[in-house]
Amino acid sequence: MLKLGMILAIESTFDETGAAVVRKRDGMVEVISNITASSLSMHEKYGGVVPEVAAREQIKVIGVTIGEALDKAGIEVGDLDAIAVANGPGLIGSLLVGVETAKTLAYVHKKPLLAVNHMVAHVFANWIQSTDGDIRKPPELPAVGLVVSGGHTDLIYMKSVDDWEWIGGTRDDAAGECYDKCARAMGLPYPGGPSIQNAAVDAPEYHERLPRPLINEETYDMSFSGLKSAVIREFSTLTDKKSEVELQKLVPSLAREVNEAIVESLVSKTIRAVEAKDPKCVLLAGGVAANALLRDNLKSRCEQLGVDLYVPEIRYCTDNAAMIGAAALLRTQSLETGVENVFGLRPDPSLGVV
Ligand code: KG4
Ligand code: ZN
Repeated sequence: MLKLGMILAIESTFDETGAAVVRKRDGMVEVISNITASSLSMHEKYGGVVPEVAAREQIKVIGVTIGEALDKAGIEVGDLDAIAVANGPGLIGSLLVGVETAKTLAYVHKKPLLAVNHMVAHVFANWIQSTDGDIRKPPELPAVGLVVSGGHTDLIYMKSVDDWEWIGGTRDDAAGECYDKCARAMGLPYPGGPSIQNAAVDAPEYHERLPRPLINEETYDMSFSGLKSAVIREFSTLTDKKSEVELQKLVPSLAREVNEAIVESLVSKTIRAVEAKDPKCVLLAGGVAANALLRDNLKSRCEQLGVDLYVPEIRYCTDNAAMIGAAALLRTQSLETGVENVFGLRPDPSLGVV
């Protein structure tokens, strides 16, 4: 295994382009610089990410993003011990941009190249030291992890940093995808998670309860496509029956119900896993982990059971390169490529979570 000091990490799996310089300190990961460029404004008009647009934007910004991360850290590529890159899962065009850039840098500067699974990296965001003075400690394992993003909803049992068991997840749409599609159906902007959360603030309860499929079943599996279909149906009925003014009054309540339905499913399955596995802590991760209701509800349920809950700072919940660096530094199974064969590394859009 490599002895790693400072590394450059690159993230380009979806619509964000990230570069970070990180190093290990006291079992945690210290972020020296972390730059994220987003093509979000390009996707807002389509209500979602257009893969070709995302990849083209990444080609434009990857060089400056890496340059900025190195400048901010006050170093040059030569000072690094290795280069880490997310090689999947993700969109193939986007992945190629980061992976090919990392390979080229590693080859030219004769640095080892470390391949990191993006979803695994989300979990390692819980090992990133905070910069706001609130000292964080490394989570104690075993842990139950909930990884919730735009493309994934996975429950994992993490015995050690390298030994993971996938115990359940969504059978259809990911939780983030459900937020995004429900928001789109309701005329709220992309990304749907934050817009549904914001619309729901102080909204009265919705007059009807929407489905929470599988919530009472003895499985760790979840399902969100039924909720999405119900919202599409509900909104189209409302559009037919209500005036525009009445409709706009109902949107916040409907957003509240969607938020509560998704959060209830996520919390109940995570708690089911905690009760069965008796872990030392729960690790929340992924873009949806930025959701305030999810953070609050999971925290109070974990407190009742006497188990610690770890949640990354919001900026390390959504896609970022620091978490890629954290996984590369902490997970001994990060795929390591010698300088002579860096060109053997290929992106893998459908990498699994463990
Ligand atoms: O992890 P991420 O940045 O990218 C992927 O790997 O997919 O997650 C993006 C997802 C989107 O579906 C977005 O709607 C959701 O995370 N998200 C949220 C919130 N912020 C982002 N979902 C619920 N509440 C939020 N505050
Ligand atoms: Zn992600």
